[in-house]
Amino acid sequence: MDDGLLDRRMLLTATLGLAAGMTFPAAARTASERIDALLARMTIEEKAGQLSCFNDDVRPVDAVFNPVVNPRSAAAMLAEVRAGRVGMLFNGYGVAGARKAQEAALASRLGIPLVFAADVIHGCRTTFPIPLAEAAAFDPDLSERACRAIAREASAAGLHWTFAPVVDIARDQRWGRVAEGAGEDLLLNRLLAAARVRGFQGDDLRANDALLATAKHFAGYSAVTGGMEYGAVDMSEATLRELFLPPFAAAFKAGAGATIASFTTLNGIPVTANHWLLTRVLREEMGFTGVCVSDYDADRELVAHGVAENEADAAKLAITAGIDMSMQSGLYNRHLPALVAAGRVPMSMIDRSVRRVLALKEALGLFDNPFRSLDVRVERRAVKREATQKLARDVATRAIVLLRNDGDLLPLPRRDTRIALIGPFAADRANTGGPWTFAGRTQDAISIEAGIRALLADPDALTVEPGCAIEAAIPGGIERAVALARASDVVLLAIGESAAMSGEANSRVSITVPAPQQALAEALAATGKPIVVLLRHGRALALEGAIRDASALLATWFLGEQTGTAIADILFGVCEPTGRLPVSFPFSTGQQPWSYDRPATGRPAPASQPMEGGRSHWRDAPDRALYAFGSGLSYTRFTLSNVKAPAEVLHDQPLVIQAEVTNTGTRPGTAFVRTDLHIRIGEASPIRRMAGFTHVHVEPKKSVIANVLIPSDRIHYTISAPRGDHSRDLKLTVMLNGLDKYSADITVSNH
Ligand code: NOJ
Repeated sequence: MDDGLLDRRMLLTATLGLAAGMTFPAAARTASERIDALLARMTIEEKAGQLSCFNDDVRPVDAVFNPVVNPRSAAAMLAEVRAGRVGMLFNGYGVAGARKAQEAALASRLGIPLVFAADVIHGCRTTFPIPLAEAAAFDPDLSERACRAIAREASAAGLHWTFAPVVDIARDQRWGRVAEGAGEDLLLNRLLAAARVRGFQGDDLRANDALLATAKHFAGYSAVTGGMEYGAVDMSEATLRELFLPPFAAAFKAGAGATIASFTTLNGIPVTANHWLLTRVLREEMGFTGVCVSDYDADRELVAHGVAENEADAAKLAITAGIDMSMQSGLYNRHLPALVAAGRVPMSMIDRSVRRVLALKEALGLFDNPFRSLDVRVERRAVKREATQKLARDVATRAIVLLRNDGDLLPLPRRDTRIALIGPFAADRANTGGPWTFAGRTQDAISIEAGIRALLADPDALTVEPGCAIEAAIPGGIERAVALARASDVVLLAIGESAAMSGEANSRVSITVPAPQQALAEALAATGKPIVVLLRHGRALALEGAIRDASALLATWFLGEQTGTAIADILFGVCEPTGRLPVSFPFSTGQQPWSYDRPATGRPAPASQPMEGGRSHWRDAPDRALYAFGSGLSYTRFTLSNVKAPAEVLHDQPLVIQAEVTNTGTRPGTAFVRTDLHIRIGEASPIRRMAGFTHVHVEPKKSVIANVLIPSDRIHYTISAPRGDHSRDLKLTVMLNGLDKYSADITVSNH
């Protein structure tokens, strides 16, 4: 093995160091006397029951999140619970139904309580922005507060456990689940993984409003070939350890009590059957002590993967690999008793997983209080509180990214301007939430039209025209839209992806705006009117033609129910745009997978001549992003000066960088100061990565000192090298609003 790889492989033991950091209380509780006593009384059938979880057919939500497998009536499900054949129910909603199910569980022979889980990904009844949008705020504290509010609402509706956060680093925008995570960067993923776990779980897992967190999908799930959902993942062990495991490590260190195994293969072996990954790496190296759940029906899918002969084999492979709980297939209930009786699976292996599940229930306080979080009065009070909606609005506003603003077209005046709002999302509410709007309701969403009208001095100054549908033309639609544009001063063009175009199983081969909307944009551009594009999307898009070239461009993602208010606040300057891109917008789909932090090429193209012959680029696209990770403008302008960085820092000391930010414009604004690091000369080709960032608010004509603190462990993560082995010469780059402004050499020394 060469030195570079050795260097990176050492990373896990050198810096993941989880065993000591693991804080999930279950770690301390697996030996509880109560659990021992219960285990001693359990039959193998009851043990298999605790290791089985099913869609909550007792109190189903309206939305369909998974293919229908083994459906049951509410009565049949309650009978299963009473028979002790269910450990957890998921994706149900409402206290009344949960109480019924819990009563059934308590009436089973051993009376072991159920735990209720759900895919509460970005809101329960109040729909927040998708996690990718929330990540654009680059604010772990905001993410933590959002998850806390979501946990309060979800727990009040009879839930104890969320299947979130998604901590899969997403570098291929063709993959539909980019929407659910924190984007392409390692640091942002690590910080938000921890913040979201803290937010969901709160300070005390036993509290009524705590929601156990699940870091998913372990591991490498997002790196599917071609971005195709459920496809194959092939990556070096170094990349897995350097990039894909650290966000899980951060989530586990913050106390996440569960993980869900990836549906995919990893280097040929389905994760659900991958003992190396689920036991050697997850348990022995990373020190995870919580519960590892299969994904939905994924143990049964081992037959389709071609690694299991039949369902019994599949169950054996899954439990042996380290899957504690089987989701939805029912395989553990059906096959574990016979597998144990035949000596094919040792009872000790079953007991190990049952202990983990019971420890999780104990950590949540369910043995002492099985009706925790199941109080109808709290449900009435806690659902859709005003404070929750206000926070959803704050997050939505902070998520919007201003990518282009020619001639300072934005913010718009609130009077004396005739505004044409055109596009399929102008008056839309059904697509504001994006994928996984768990119990959110369309009628609660505020459309862009409603948000804007509420802010205008003369609401009639706004006229709305769809122009086309999301993926189809409307007869006469373009003509009407063009006529409206001609009669207006400015065009707001609300276009992009529908909610169904991103999320699980919604990979795309072409990440462009659908053709009918592109045609609408081209026709409107021909009028010569200034166009502000309000882009709706669950991933970075490859923008083309009139959309790419519009005078102003706002990335607005799926912002949840406060879509209209947040967009209007930014458009009219009630709030300044402060969001930054957590994913790079490419020139073309063919550039995927893409991320800003790539090893250097030996033949870089000069920035001034990106298409110079014999250099690194495609024939039809440069080797750079249209809008790179971290991009985003303000309504004012800033300069950076007086940067202070130490020439040398000890390997166990933090790095503190100071810079003066001056607002040279006429509006108050928030600047984004970011620092990147890389090894100057590395064993492996050095990768430049974000190591720290901060926001500073600056009044017009004033200056503020920005401090960026880079803790020592973060330096080592960022440069992918263990701490303290020998001195390192680093290059520091300081960026202001996404642009390089300053660089310096720094030595990290070991003495
Ligand atoms: C499949 C998804 O991959 C996973 O993220 C989700 O938690 C489960 N379905 C349960 O709905």
